[in-house]
Amino acid sequence: MAEEPLVLGFETSCDETGIGLVRGHTLLSDALATSMAEHERFGGVVPEIASRAHLEAMVPTVHRALADAGVALGDVDAVAVTGGPGLTGALLVGVAAAKAYALALGVPLYGVNHLAAHVAVDELEHGRLAEPSIAMLVSGGHSSILLVPDLSQDVQELGRTIDDAAGEAFDKVARVLDLPFPGGPPIDRAAQDGTASIAFPRGLTGPRDPAYDFSFSGLKTAVARWVEAQQRDGVHVSVPDVAASFQEAVVDVLTAKAVRACRDHGVDHLVVGGGVAANSRLRAVAQERCDAAGIVLRVPSRRLCTDNGAMVAALGSRLVMAGVAPSAPDLGADSSLPVEVVSR
Ligand code: KG4
Ligand code: ZN
Repeated sequence: MAEEPLVLGFETSCDETGIGLVRGHTLLSDALATSMAEHERFGGVVPEIASRAHLEAMVPTVHRALADAGVALGDVDAVAVTGGPGLTGALLVGVAAAKAYALALGVPLYGVNHLAAHVAVDELEHGRLAEPSIAMLVSGGHSSILLVPDLSQDVQELGRTIDDAAGEAFDKVARVLDLPFPGGPPIDRAAQDGTASIAFPRGLTGPRDPAYDFSFSGLKTAVARWVEAQQRDGVHVSVPDVAASFQEAVVDVLTAKAVRACRDHGVDHLVVGGGVAANSRLRAVAQERCDAAGIVLRVPSRRLCTDNGAMVAALGSRLVMAGVAPSAPDLGADSSLPVEVVSR
């Protein structure tokens, strides 16, 4: 295999059919199809609809990724696919497709962890991760702080949410505010016109609370109660102010805990990944706090923060270059794959 392998990545863990092509650490293409519009009226992703949409989008999206990259299927050196965590039916479509392509092409198949891929994608823009790094992973399904001695094989979870994920909190608060799903982008936009004037609670920040765990469920409830109380009293609710105040509470806790994890572990590189890493206030506050603490911050561009195929190809490529063994031909989908299992 070439020193810089050409890797085809498949991502189908939720509503996005993402197909990416990466050579070494170089991004060649990132084709995306999404079924989000079909889920919007349900206020959340409907697994059956997502699975069917992946099936329909799969082959055209692979062809688009190849055309965008200007490569032929026969040039591909390895195939990588999200093996979990995610929606089982959705994952299965990607795993089946990736196996079929790998078998037909006679190339190795790598089943990779979606969460590690959210971290690996940063290497496409900012080069190899410093080792060790602290990674904060904030998405619609997960919120964790990780110690990453070696992203190819050694990821340790320092803390995680004990209830809702950060993105889930954005989605639920958006619903309270009658903003569309998914809630992160509209809250981010609304907050730009508001002030963070309402003091919402910061979960698990007491002196005896676990240092790196998160809790966002109390915050979500506090926002809902506050809005209800205002409406009951006939007081106008400023959506921008509520959005800004809620967002500030999330961002404050996330960034404080990530910086603390760096300090406590003597690590001076922080990488932030996952859909919530697209949040403009999170990016700004993380930068301020890292600058103040002498920590180098790395955040992928917004486009690569949310789910895509390039992140899977990026992690696959890293595994190939590190000489990690490929997955067995009976690779399955694991909806609750632990964050520590980088590949399987
Ligand atoms: O990583 P991702 O695309 O999918 C999962 O693996 O879950 O993350 C999706 C989550 C959603 O909850 C969405 O509301 C949130 O990321 N998100 C944002 C922003 N853009 C997406 N949250 C806050 N601010 C944003 N700008
Ligand atoms: Zn994700």
